[in-house]
Amino acid sequence: MCGIVGYIGNKEAQNFLLEGLSKLEYRGYDSAGLAIYNGEAISVQKTKGRLADLANKISSNVMKGSIGIGHTRWATHGKPSDENSHPHLDGTEQFAVVHNGIIENYMDLKEELIEKGHVFLSETDTEVIAKLMADLYDGDLVSTVRKVAKRLSGAFALGILSKHEPNKLVAVRMASPLVIGVGEEENFIASDIPAILKHTRDVYILEDGEMAVITEGNVELSTLDGAEVNREVMRVSWDIETAEKGGYDHFMMKEIYEQPKAIRDTLAGRIRNNQVDLSQEIGLTVEQLKGIEKIQFVACGTAYHAGLVGKYVLEGLARIPVETDIASEYRYRNPIVDEKTLVVVVSQSGETADTLAALREAKSKGARVLAITNVVGSSVAREADDVLITWAGPEIAVASTKAYTSQLIVVYLLGAYLAKARGLLSEETMTELVTNLQQLPEQAEKVLAQEQTVEAYARSIAKHHNLFFLGRGLDYAVALEGSLKLKELSYIHSEAYAAGELKHGTLALIEEGIPVIALGTQKAVLDKMISNIQEVKARGAYVLGFAPEGDNELKKSVDEVIYIPVTHDLLAPVLTVIPLQLISYYACQERGYDVDKPRNLAKSVTVE
Ligand code: F6R
Repeated sequence: MCGIVGYIGNKEAQNFLLEGLSKLEYRGYDSAGLAIYNGEAISVQKTKGRLADLANKISSNVMKGSIGIGHTRWATHGKPSDENSHPHLDGTEQFAVVHNGIIENYMDLKEELIEKGHVFLSETDTEVIAKLMADLYDGDLVSTVRKVAKRLSGAFALGILSKHEPNKLVAVRMASPLVIGVGEEENFIASDIPAILKHTRDVYILEDGEMAVITEGNVELSTLDGAEVNREVMRVSWDIETAEKGGYDHFMMKEIYEQPKAIRDTLAGRIRNNQVDLSQEIGLTVEQLKGIEKIQFVACGTAYHAGLVGKYVLEGLARIPVETDIASEYRYRNPIVDEKTLVVVVSQSGETADTLAALREAKSKGARVLAITNVVGSSVAREADDVLITWAGPEIAVASTKAYTSQLIVVYLLGAYLAKARGLLSEETMTELVTNLQQLPEQAEKVLAQEQTVEAYARSIAKHHNLFFLGRGLDYAVALEGSLKLKELSYIHSEAYAAGELKHGTLALIEEGIPVIALGTQKAVLDKMISNIQEVKARGAYVLGFAPEGDNELKKSVDEVIYIPVTHDLLAPVLTVIPLQLISYYACQERGYDVDKPRNLAKSVTVE
């Protein structure tokens, strides 16, 4: 996720900007840049790479001036490169802009601005904002910013500097975080509190649809519509480590709570007029989509589990045979692949060695490869024929959470898009899916609100050495993910079973008091699931059941219940997995292990 900083005061801006950006490094980035007004012009220095590369560049050409903005970029539109790095300028270098978020209508705006003669130097969505500033400039910086903001749709936190009024900085927030730090004869802008904590603990947190006009001695808040905003300064008591985690104890918890936003961001711009539309991202024509004879999902770990959900979803909606493979196995099983096969590689990092090797194997056999990844410009993204990005933002905790739910969202979008292209999705089903997809962020928040119940359960099972997850259909796919998460975080041995398979051997392991988590969100197999629950209950298991809200049946057979908001059966995994993530988190905490860095594991596995 991009980082923004801004400074206006009586000191050299460059020092704060570089230092502030270094405090945002934990957010992840691939390039960095500064814009500083030097008394005559806005000077800009930016580069692909690390902050040290930027500092190096600047050391041979020091940037003078006491008002400026800075940015660390985490590529979204366009690969990491010097040109795509922020800040971006308009053609006459009157305005400099840094941005965090995604401008959904940037293509339309770009076309409009090109027609008017603006020349674009980057592939970013952000550059349209700088050009729009110049295009709509009416002699007043603040009113121009308001006009520009009205033209933008999507998520944007902005820092804007103008040569016309070099005694002020403007900050704007719309669905991307931004805070204003209040100092003495100096004020600050930052994406996140750690950037400014060394200088001030007094902050304003901007709300969506608000802006701040900042001078050396004053901060003025208003809405983008021009209404005054009166807000008390908030005094931050967090230390720097807590601030990096947004007030949570661990990155994992922060990322679990970021899921409603990650889902929203991953859906954004991909649903138009109630239809899923991926035509701007996938190069396959309708004819080619119709010609696909087989799909293979290939991935590792949690991403593999997203691929398992993919099998149910794509077979269910698009009626194409789907195989889901573990990437490290795929290459060595001599898979049957040809040009009618679509291979979908799923990888949060885009750098997993086994997944990359499988991608190359599939390509060498003639398959078309589509990547679902969280990192623009990653190896997987570069080598695939088509890419669908999961807009989860950087995932820092080793255990994957928001990347998984975002991968599921992309899988649903892909399923609906393929099914539609193949003439298999009625308007009615499309509307139902789209409506249910759009409800997911709010429903995820509802699930998160059950945290306390989940915590109590997790702490109670932390003393056990074995645990079972049961499910049927998509619940089985989610059970596998819940079991992996529990193992990697709490080091409790667990197994996930297709509930109907238990009696073919594993039932022998069920004994008095053993915890069983039974997922019953799939309405079509609920009765069968209840029978399986009774099988383990009869042998003394202590069962936590997951049931759709309103359930009156499953709850009679279990010891405790977690309720999942009602959604389309195919979409339930997005909501079901959240309590499972929380169970792993709290079981890990109860056992005193490191939540963000489980033993023996790495975030990105770049060896085969
Ligand atoms: C588990 C986890 C891993 C990754 C796997 C693939 O919580 O994070 O199982 O899912 O190593 O990583 P990516 O998605 O980066 O290819």
